[in-house]
Amino acid sequence: MKPTDRIFVALDTTDADEAVAMAEKLNGLVGGVKMGKEFFTAHGPAEVKRVSAGGMPVFLDLKYHDIPNTVAGAIRATSTMKPFMVNVHASGGVAMMKAAAAAAAEAGDDKPLLIAVTVLTSLGDEDLNAMGIAGTAEEQVIRLAKLTQDCGLDGVVCSAREVTALREACGDHFKLVVPGIRPTWASSDDQKRIVTPSDAVRMGADYLVIGRPITSAPDPVEAAKKIAEELAGV
Ligand code: C5P
Repeated sequence: MKPTDRIFVALDTTDADEAVAMAEKLNGLVGGVKMGKEFFTAHGPAEVKRVSAGGMPVFLDLKYHDIPNTVAGAIRATSTMKPFMVNVHASGGVAMMKAAAAAAAEAGDDKPLLIAVTVLTSLGDEDLNAMGIAGTAEEQVIRLAKLTQDCGLDGVVCSAREVTALREACGDHFKLVVPGIRPTWASSDDQKRIVTPSDAVRMGADYLVIGRPITSAPDPVEAAKKIAEELAGV
């Protein structure tokens, strides 16, 4: 894959025209765009399709978590948007993940990459312990990533600091999708544990989710090109 294909730009907005304009500007410069619950709840599939109409691949970040039949139905329903990547919560369990994988496979050649969220980075050890999950968040991340792989999914979303351990636990073909990326020239915003795009790829990330360093830059095209140059050197 081209280095720039690794970049998915987070369009964290409910302004559909702004999202369409950003996707048009960045088309060909990045691998795709990520749209989540905020955008989807405001606009639904119609506007997701408008954002991707120019050919921009979409990571549909809806983090499904429900009973197996419902999640399978939701995954099946995403097929009208032909997403490149969709995700579910690994904590939905084995039956749910297997049902999701089977539903994704029904799309045939258009099968999206099916990714799981392990432990939300907003949760720490204490939060997990309060929910009855013993051990550390990192142990839980590895446990759920292995379960994800056993269920036939393609990979997980993870923080940069988990990449090395996950590569070791799940091998070379398991996709690792990493947010919290900041080029040296960008503000860290509210992200606490950040890595640069090139360091993330060196560590073993497959896809980088990058939002504000591109979308809030004075010139998003210039920002995307700078990140592409950085990745070309890896
Ligand atoms: O603007 P920024 O680059 O911080 O955007 C990162 C994107 O990745 C946002 O859409 C954010 O919700 C998402 N994300 C994250 N950390 C996680 C999971 C998702 O920043 N652990």
